Amino acid sequence: MRYSLTACFTLSLVVASLAEPTFGPYNVHEKRSAIPIGWSYTRRHESAATLPLRIALQQSNIEFIDEYLYDVSHPESANYGKHWTAGEISRKFSPSEEAVSTVRDWLVENGLESERIRVSSTKGWINVNVTVEEAERLMNTEYNVYTHVSGQEHVACEAYHLPEYIGTHIDFVLPSVNFDVKLKGRSGSQPEPGRAIGQPGVGTTPKTTGTISQTVTELEQCDQYITPICLRALYELVYEPVATEKNSYGVVEYTPQAYLQSDLQMFALNYSTDLLGKEPVMVSIDGGYAQTEYQGFDYNGESALDLQYGMSLVTGKQNVTLYQTGDMVEGASFNNFLDAIDGSYCTFEGGDNYTVDSQYPDPYGGGYEGPEDCGTVAPAYVISTSYGYNEAELTPFYTARQCAEYAKLGLMGVTILYSSGDYGVAGHGDYCLNPNGTQSSTGTIFNPTFPGTCPYVTSVGATMVKPNATVFQAQPEMACMEVIYSGGGFSNYFAMSSYQKTAVDYYLQNYPPDYPSDIWNSTGMSRALPDISANGANYVVAVDGQFELVYGTSCSSPVSGAIFTMINDARLAIGKGPIGFINPTIYSAGFAGAFNDITEGSNPGCGTEGYNATAGWDPVTGLGTPNFPKLLENWLALP
Ligand SMILES: *[C@@H]1O[C@H](CO)[C@@H](O)[C@H](O)[C@H]1NC(C)=O
Ligand SMILES: *[C@@H]1O[C@H](CO)[C@@H](O)[C@H](O)[C@H]1NC(C)=O
Ligand SMILES: *[C@@H]1O[C@H](CO)[C@@H](O)[C@H](O)[C@H]1NC(C)=O
Ligand SMILES: *[C@@H]1O[C@H](CO)[C@@H](O)[C@H](O)[C@H]1NC(C)=O
Ligand SMILES: *[C@@H]1O[C@H](CO)[C@@H](O)[C@H](O)[C@H]1NC(C)=O
Ligand SMILES: *[C@@H]1O[C@H](CO)[C@@H](O)[C@H](O)[C@H]1NC(C)=O
Ligand SMILES: *[C@@H]1O[C@H](CO)[C@@H](O)[C@H](O)[C@H]1NC(C)=O
Ligand SMILES: *[C@@H]1O[C@H](CO)[C@@H](O)[C@H](O)[C@H]1NC(C)=O
Repeated sequence: MRYSLTACFTLSLVVASLAEPTFGPYNVHEKRSAIPIGWSYTRRHESAATLPLRIALQQSNIEFIDEYLYDVSHPESANYGKHWTAGEISRKFSPSEEAVSTVRDWLVENGLESERIRVSSTKGWINVNVTVEEAERLMNTEYNVYTHVSGQEHVACEAYHLPEYIGTHIDFVLPSVNFDVKLKGRSGSQPEPGRAIGQPGVGTTPKTTGTISQTVTELEQCDQYITPICLRALYELVYEPVATEKNSYGVVEYTPQAYLQSDLQMFALNYSTDLLGKEPVMVSIDGGYAQTEYQGFDYNGESALDLQYGMSLVTGKQNVTLYQTGDMVEGASFNNFLDAIDGSYCTFEGGDNYTVDSQYPDPYGGGYEGPEDCGTVAPAYVISTSYGYNEAELTPFYTARQCAEYAKLGLMGVTILYSSGDYGVAGHGDYCLNPNGTQSSTGTIFNPTFPGTCPYVTSVGATMVKPNATVFQAQPEMACMEVIYSGGGFSNYFAMSSYQKTAVDYYLQNYPPDYPSDIWNSTGMSRALPDISANGANYVVAVDGQFELVYGTSCSSPVSGAIFTMINDARLAIGKGPIGFINPTIYSAGFAGAFNDITEGSNPGCGTEGYNATAGWDPVTGLGTPNFPKLLENWLALP
């Protein structure tokens, strides 16, 4: 057979590209440091087996998100308060045509016929069914079968590579290094409170020291018993909301955590009669409901605390929205919640990770069979969540994707608060990091919590009234060192945002922590937390028909959320917008003195004394606790 010279040339080019794609250097795109606990390598995967390859494309303009957010959130910006609509956000960030076509062309050039390649309607995904052999060649990797101790198998690789010019368009590829499997075999067993794989709340429920026998009414006893009146006195929160039809405050709970209306009413009777007969406005996400089947502090403590204090401080006039997320079988994660309040997030940066996030409708049966909530729920202006992960439990990709979503919510004018954790410099469950990246109770490396390490949320630490101090004296509070320690420190994943640079530099220069640089991120370049704090000790909470004493940053977040909700009320009442992402504002010079500086106490963990609370910002209590009148005055002065 003979061809013309031109044809022959063309043919050899095709052959060459099929056999050995020549697309510049390959870079490692993702790599796993260890096989997750409970799994072991079994065998190489069969080369003829099919893999449903899902390629997550990178969003456009995501690198400018910090800039966009500052533009609407920095008090000195001309566009302060000019928040974006959901449509504007979606148009700004969806993947570019160039990303889609570059990746598609690369697949075609590697021998995958274009009829096999499907681009999702959102352009977030490129899907193609390939053989293991094709995938291995494409990404210069090896696929293996791993087996869980339960017998369940999972296909994954240790690392994969992409040509440099492709990697810049791709977030990640599935299946690959991740173990995004939900283990089966849950039916019939009692759902563990917040301990299912990947559920938020692992070790994060507040702590209790037991029930209270005597009557608590005294404002003089706030060092032993915190009630709403103590918090009003500490933060000078004297405010009756007037713009309640325009305003909203959301508290997020993850099933099986649930509140009991009888507890809310018991609390109302003793401490907040304006809540008599009131319920939170329940919004069910992914089959969430206030279950009553399982009771006890571990099921009811968190929700009881969040709602009793959140609702009391905004008064009975202001409705509080309860975002009850996840069913009894699968539970849910932050991403499930975020999917519900922002339809563009369901597919954003490739979609959820089912190791961490629950899949709806429940693929295993027995759980919520309805469709996943995706953009079905309106976000409140302020959203408080008292659950969390350790940053190290999640991958940088996963956390970056979720963090960008918090920035988008900020762009839309939503204030996002997360508790900073209850174990000082250690992570939830008192776990610290080992040099190889794993976590254990014997680890020595500080272990910060996520989402607090995301620079686009406001992380809330905990304080307490000093023993024998009264709320009437100056500086009555210190860092919480009773039962819990305020979570704080420096991220290993996220760079510092400029809003906190001056404050954190001041701390690092004046109080340089004397710890070796291999146990904390001492670069001075990473996101530092918490941002603020509020009381987190000795809360009197009605749980399962009894008053208990409760501790944790779980207390501080809903209390801070209530305070910011009242500030929104005052702004909405005079025709201004909500405060949105507050960090650039609260760290700005104009807000100096609007938080009560906490200068005593520390946050021990990982076998150390942790950091000290100091004058100015510190990685224990942040800027300090809210001073409502000053915050109100400052925020009313902003456009
Ligand atoms: C891959 O194969 C599965 C099962 O046959 C099919 O449901 C799916 O649509 C295919 N995906 C693509 C992108 O062709
Ligand atoms: C999904 O999460 C698990 C656990 O954090 C992680 O090992 C895996 O790499 C993640 N997958 C992706 C695609 O981020
Ligand atoms: C709540 O009120 C009841 C009735 O007045 C009282 O007996 C009880 O001691 C109070 N509980 C607390 C913890 O204050
Ligand atoms: C508060 O919630 C209740 C119950 O859902 C509703 O009837 C009422 O209209 C709401 N009030 C405001 C001001 O939104
Ligand atoms: C990581 O290090 C810890 C302690 O240093 C050790 O116990 C653990 O086995 C190591 N894990 C892996 C996967 O190397
Ligand atoms: C608080 O006061 C009590 C009673 O006066 C006293 O016994 C206790 O030592 C004081 N505690 C502190 C920390 O000052
Ligand atoms: C410290 O934080 C920076 C920025 O977040 C990050 O690039 C760096 O890898 C971190 N260092 C360590 C030792 O984790
Ligand atoms: C905290 O303060 C104590 C007492 O002044 C000091 O010895 C210690 O070094 C400080 N710790 C840190 C991490 O700065």
